[in-house]
Amino acid sequence: MTTEELKFSYKGIQYPTVLCSKETFQGMEKMEAREEDVLIITYPKCGTNWSLQIVHEMMLEVHKKEPTMIKGMLEFGKPEKYEFLNQEPSPRVLATHVPCETIPKNFFEKKTKMLLILRNPKDTAVSYYHFTNKNPTLPTYDSWDLFFKDYITGNVIYGSFFDYTLQWEKHVDDGNILVLTFEDMKEDLPRELRKICDFYGLALTDEQIKLIQEKTSFSSMKEKSGSTHGDLANVFFRKGEVGDWKNLFTEEQSKEVDAQFEKYLAGTKLGNMINY
Ligand code: A3P
Repeated sequence: MTTEELKFSYKGIQYPTVLCSKETFQGMEKMEAREEDVLIITYPKCGTNWSLQIVHEMMLEVHKKEPTMIKGMLEFGKPEKYEFLNQEPSPRVLATHVPCETIPKNFFEKKTKMLLILRNPKDTAVSYYHFTNKNPTLPTYDSWDLFFKDYITGNVIYGSFFDYTLQWEKHVDDGNILVLTFEDMKEDLPRELRKICDFYGLALTDEQIKLIQEKTSFSSMKEKSGSTHGDLANVFFRKGEVGDWKNLFTEEQSKEVDAQFEKYLAGTKLGNMINY
């Protein structure tokens, strides 16, 4: 498939043709949200798989049985998937990269608790570049510079990081959204795990938190990624570090991101939370 064939547009945002379709979105609109669902919301490469694993381990500790885990993103698959998901038992652990306007309305009406994970936009860009080039369902770029041009203008699958993040600003005080950052999770995972427990009302002991910390470390997850992510293991678990952008960005590119950050996110609550 050509680069153009690999993506299609829905409500002004590009999505991967191989993974979803307009019909998928129509099916998703009819999905029944539940108050007790966990919905992880991320722009790509901000720590989706990490947080999914964290919530999975937490639910397992609390309920002593496997929670319903989403395979891939909520927006991936055939429209029938949502009828199937509607039958699945709670708790359901779901994740999506779609902008807030495309999330089925009843997630907001039911006040489903959402976990928004943010990441520094420069590290996100570098992670996205490696990911798109190694993932056969996504466009390939001949160079970092070419990818950067598309990233900074929002001409990538899921659109602009800055637009995406800014759109969540209007929901930040809704009361059902917990915002965490990739960098804070790297700095002190137990502290951030406690925030998730408090938010979802999960009573976990310090010992259980320690166990989850170990099970969701980059090395543990990478080690098991062959069985959890198959051929895409190395694509999803690359470095797991903060500051890798310094290895690829030119000074000019760094300034371009600074300017976008200033234009969209400076002075916003979410902008202030991003470790920038
Ligand atoms: P890098 O490409 O910078 O290594 P997502 O799951 O949203 O696609 O995000 C992928 C990014 O999260 C990748 O970043 C990946 O390595 C990192 N990651 C995945 N699991 C992690 C973990 N347990 N700890 C730290 N980073 C992790």
